[in-house]
Amino acid sequence: MNDRSPVFVGNWKMNKNASQTRSFVEAFLPLAAQLPPSVGIAIAPPFTALAAAAAALGSGNRVALAAQTMSEFAEGAYTGEIAASMLAEFNVAYVILGHSERRLYQHESDATIGAKVRAALAAEITPILAVGESLEVREAGNAVAHVLGQIRSATGDLSEEQAARMVLAYEPIWAIGTGKNCDRESAQEIARAVRAARKGFADIPILYGGSMKPENAAGYMEMPDIDGGLVGGASLDAGSFAALIAGAIAR
Ligand code: 13P
Repeated sequence: MNDRSPVFVGNWKMNKNASQTRSFVEAFLPLAAQLPPSVGIAIAPPFTALAAAAAALGSGNRVALAAQTMSEFAEGAYTGEIAASMLAEFNVAYVILGHSERRLYQHESDATIGAKVRAALAAEITPILAVGESLEVREAGNAVAHVLGQIRSATGDLSEEQAARMVLAYEPIWAIGTGKNCDRESAQEIARAVRAARKGFADIPILYGGSMKPENAAGYMEMPDIDGGLVGGASLDAGSFAALIAGAIAR
């Protein structure tokens, strides 16, 4: 079962090879050790750096590993794909599913994302389901309906117990990598709607993502339904990611 302790996940996207990953972990572990143990921290390197990350993180579990996606299938003729069991070999604890960049560039549908969520849960890897609207959808006043639609298609057939093992991430597409973060009241409005969206979500962590930085992270954490961050650019530097987390939880 999840609880609503803060969680920060660094989504590195297509950045850092194995040796850069090792350097990051060496710099980051001492900084992470100074953060309160109640804060969950994970990094999501590219697949090719998972082994290096797992080795550098060692047997300590202060910083968990996340994958950026995975296949909905268990094994077989799916060229280029990675199965949940392959991630489990590296003690991957989380997998980001439905990121807008995968929906856009890899044409992942809500149905496929739903199948991935079920496969992750079956493998006991916590899915971080990413949802969010485009600027066009927001300006038309349909952001909440759009996000709820994404959640319904990806989680509609899950039991309450399965849904309670998820993490949700609200990432407005127009805020990703743009430096234009979503104002915290609008992010809270969506987070509240997400929490009410279905049985099982009452106590799951809901993360905000989209230009989260050391300067703005604390503001989101003051919102009643936001429990952490899915951080892109600001997670690539060990000092900046640690400062973001420290700032977010300092109150
Ligand atoms: P940025 O923090 O770089 O805007 O990226 C957010 C994101 O997409 C995390 O998954």
